[in-house]
Amino acid sequence: MLNTALVTSVEFLPHLALVAEIDGAVAGYCITTRGWAGDGPALGLGPIGVDPSVQRRGIGSALVRETLRLAAEHGERVVALLGDPAY
Ligand SMILES: CC(C)(COP(=O)(O)OP(=O)(O)OC[C@H]1O[C@@H](n2cnc3c(N)ncnc32)[C@H](O)[C@@H]1OP(=O)(O)O)[C@@H](O)C(=O)NCCC(=O)NCCS
Repeated sequence: MLNTALVTSVEFLPHLALVAEIDGAVAGYCITTRGWAGDGPALGLGPIGVDPSVQRRGIGSALVRETLRLAAEHGERVVALLGDPAY
């Protein structure tokens, strides 16, 4: 479940928030927030989540790849994955 405080915060970047759908139903999501690395802007990628019934089918990877593509398109140069260190 997405944290309401997170998506209503000023750091939330709606143009870099993605939802994956299968037949019109939400299958996963990936959001990003504004952060800083030293003096420069950076992105925090996550949380990312995929419905357990459709995990391990490439949806998470597709969400990350598309987020990185859009981030580069918007001139972002530093992205850090937030969340589970194992992932
Ligand atoms: C982590 C998660 C988003 C991955 O989504 P997915 O659609 O299942 O991932 P993909 O099918 O694209 O898998 C890509 C690779 O990610 C890695 N991976 C997937 N799930 C993983 C997990 N739970 N832990 C560690 N690595 C994982 C694997 O290396 C996988 O490749 P391989 O299994 O083919 O070798 C999904 O399992 C999930 O929602 N997990 C619960 C929430 C969570 O842990 N979020 C991540 C940190 S915030």
